[in-house]
Formats: sequence, C-alpha cells, structure tokens
Amino acid sequence: MGINKMQQPGQKVDGWKPRIIAFLCNWCSYAGADLAGVSRLQYPPNTRIIRVPCSSRISPLLILKSLQHGVDGVLVSGCRPGDCHYISGNYVARRKFAILNNLLEYLGIEKGRVHFAWVSAAEGKRFAELIKEITEEVRALGPAKELVKKQD
Ligand code: FES
Repeated sequence: MGINKMQQPGQKVDGWKPRIIAFLCNWCSYAGADLAGVSRLQYPPNTRIIRVPCSSRISPLLILKSLQHGVDGVLVSGCRPGDCHYISGNYVARRKFAILNNLLEYLGIEKGRVHFAWVSAAEGKRFAELIKEITEEVRALGPAKELVKKQD
C-alpha cells in the first residue's frame, strides 16, 4: 500500500480519507469485527483488516513498515485481559506497544496514529465505535508524513 503518486506525504487533498490498517487477533478482535459486520453496524470502510493468530504476533517493525508504506493509522487489537487463546500473548503485545510508543514519539509520529485496544468476540458494537473514533482521530491529524517513503 503506497501513497498516491499525485499526493505528497503530509499533503491533504479534497475528499481525503485516511488509510488505516487493523491487525486483529483471530480469536477475539477479528470475531468482534465479524460480529459488527454480521450485525450490519456502520463504520468507515477505509480500514483494511489483517487477521493474525494473536496480537503478540505483531512485530513493532510491521507497524513501522506500514507507516513507511503510506498507511495513515494503525490499530493492533487483541483479546481482553485473561482471554488470550495463548494465555498471555495480549500482555506481551501490550508491553511491546508501550515500548513502541516511546520510539514513535522519538521519531515524531503523532499520538493517535497507532492504537492498541482490547476487543472481545462479543463486542461488535465496540469494534465499530473504535474504528469510527480512530478514523476521526487520524483524519484530524491528516496524512502521515513521517517515515513515508517517497515514490519516484
Ligand atoms: Fe487474542 Fe492472543 S489470541 S490476543
């Protein structure tokens, strides 16, 4: 996913819609997203979902790579505390992203571009609300400009 050739990083264009990537754990958050869909809950369609076995499988490098390739916002979501299918993967993920947040701040990435959240399989409504909130937050920040690779 790269930026549009006509659009420079950081440049707002009319009708701009943020590109958001959501890494969702298979057992809870993906099921929550599925429930939102099955329940026909409305949420912005500009989020691309990637299903992963557990939130702990997401490397911080993958988040940095996503931003580098022109994604405007990232969500990593896993099971609620005590619900991880792999016992403690969600706690590992939370620790990783707490450290990543410091690096993002150091790199000049605005708060609000990268999110970590718990969503259970029963929380379709919460998932839809979360995507709405993140989309609005990223829209207010504008297109990502830090780290974005310029295309020739
Ligand atoms: Fe969902 Fe680990 S299986 S966070």
